[in-house]
Amino acid sequence: MEEVTYQGLTFEPYIRREEIAKQVHRLAQEIKRDYANEKPLFLCVLNGSFIFAADLFRACGLHDAEITFIRFKSYEGMESTGTVKEIMGLTEDIEGRNVLIVEDIIDSGVTAAQLRKELAKYNPKSVKMVSLLFKPEALTIGEAPEYVGFKIPSKFILGYGLDLDGLARNLADIYVLKEK
Ligand code: IMP
Ligand code: MG
Repeated sequence: MEEVTYQGLTFEPYIRREEIAKQVHRLAQEIKRDYANEKPLFLCVLNGSFIFAADLFRACGLHDAEITFIRFKSYEGMESTGTVKEIMGLTEDIEGRNVLIVEDIIDSGVTAAQLRKELAKYNPKSVKMVSLLFKPEALTIGEAPEYVGFKIPSKFILGYGLDLDGLARNLADIYVLKEK
C-alpha cells in the first residue's frame, strides 16, 4: 500500500481493508445477537457512514432489520465543535422502535450527543450507537458508543467513507496523516 496525497498533505496506510472487514463482522455478530428478537432500525448518519453502514447492515443479516438515512445540518467549519442545528431526512416514525445509530467516527462526541438528544424527542424504545472508530482521548461530551470497531488516538484519518473536504471517501483502506 502506497501513501496518498490530498491537498498537499501526505497520508500513510493505517487500517487495512482486511482488518476493517474483520471488525465489521465482529460488530455484526454482537449486534445480531443483541437484536435477534427485535426489529431494529439502523440509522445511518450521512455522509461519512454510508460505506460502513452498507457493509455492517449486510453482515448483520437480520431478517427484520430496516435502514434509513439522516443528515445533520450544522454550521460550516473545519472544527468538529460546530453546533448541530437539526436533523434532516428523518422520515420514519421512530416512536417505540429500537434505533441503532450507525456512525463512522466519534471524535469530540458533540454530534453523537446532539443526535441522541434530538432522537429522544420522538420517544424511541431504545437508542444505541455503533461507531467504526472512536477517539477516546478527544471525547468531551457523552459516553462511548455501545459498539466500537477500533479505538484510535486523536489523529486525523481518512478513507472508507471518511473524508478531507469531501475527498478520499472511496479509499478501501483507512489512512492517517503522516507526521513530519
Ligand atoms: P464529533 O467531534 O464527534 O462531533 O465528530 C464530528 C464529525 O467529524 C464526525 O462524524 C466525522 O465526520 C468528522 N471527523 C472526526 N474525526 C475525523 C477524522 O479523523 N477524519 C475525518 N473526519 C473526522
Ligand atoms: Mg460523520
